[in-house]
Amino acid sequence: MSKILFSGIQPTGTPHIGNYLGALKNWILLQQNYNGIYCLVDLHAITIERDPEQLYSDTINSIKDLLALGIKPEKSTIFVQSHIPEHLELAWILNTITPVAELERMTQYKDKAKENKNNINAGLLTYPVLMAADILLYKAQAVPVGDDQLQHLELARIIARKFNNRWGDTFPEPQAILPEGKRIMSLSQPTKKMSKSHGEKNYIAITDNPDTIRKKINKAVTDTGNEKTDEMSPGVKNLFDFLLYLGKNDIHMKMMAEYQNKTIKYAELKKAVADSIIEELADFQKRREQIKETEVIEVITKGKKQAQIIAQQTMQEVRKKIGFL
Ligand code: TYM
Repeated sequence: MSKILFSGIQPTGTPHIGNYLGALKNWILLQQNYNGIYCLVDLHAITIERDPEQLYSDTINSIKDLLALGIKPEKSTIFVQSHIPEHLELAWILNTITPVAELERMTQYKDKAKENKNNINAGLLTYPVLMAADILLYKAQAVPVGDDQLQHLELARIIARKFNNRWGDTFPEPQAILPEGKRIMSLSQPTKKMSKSHGEKNYIAITDNPDTIRKKINKAVTDTGNEKTDEMSPGVKNLFDFLLYLGKNDIHMKMMAEYQNKTIKYAELKKAVADSIIEELADFQKRREQIKETEVIEVITKGKKQAQIIAQQTMQEVRKKIGFL
């Protein structure tokens, strides 16, 4: 039997090119060799205040994105987290073996608490416990993510170990699978990771049209004048990285030589990056327009049934081991 692979994405509008190169591209590739289970993590998404109608349509649209990107519902399971209440039951149990101190030192928690000073809710703190529950519920061995999720994944491994020590061997310790593009940086603030929360200018959505992609890349920060002379600035490095992650090794090599002998024109580098992104997304964007909501409903109804079977089995085993009546 193939190994189980699990991953999740928050339905917070169209994924950006960081989500794509950091995780989704691997989801598509790895579904050939694994039993892939892919989850729209709407329960995680509400740790930040969300408009209900927006959350609803973002969830539908995210599934359209996954289908158009090439996740195959005949091969893989695609489902919505809130459809399987066992995630919450397991998360509660895992809460009881997770030290608060571990949660308080999570970088993402600290960043989000800083960004959302008026809403530092308990869900933000226990977010990684729910994430551990997502993974362990399906006894997943492999978890493709970008490197911003590595700390959470390490905690999931610690939690699995603690559970196994306390209640007997139950969960495998999940391994992260990282792609080459494990961290894509913001276009406007290239020392930070690309993220929706830093505004339109800093990311490229995978549904952005060619014109928008060109405009955003043209505005990307390159040299700020503050860097040491022998050091490539983070903005320029990010642009070069795009070429590598998009498989344009020949252009990368040529332009890197120009960079080194100081003949490079950043306008040309940006054009090459924009061209590569547009080319990479063209097929997806064509397919995306044709996917209907009825197809989405069919896929998640089937996904729910498939996920439920595994989730219920695991929870029966867990309840028995813990000693629930
Ligand atoms: P989310 O929705 O923030 O991001 C989805 C995936 O995209 C990756 N990613 C990036 N990769 C490279 N560069 C970037 N700038 C970048 N930004 C985001 C993320 O690493 C992630 O893989 N907590 C998770 C969702 C989740 C999950 C899970 C993942 C919930 N349960 C269980 C794996 C397993 C998250 O917020 O992802």
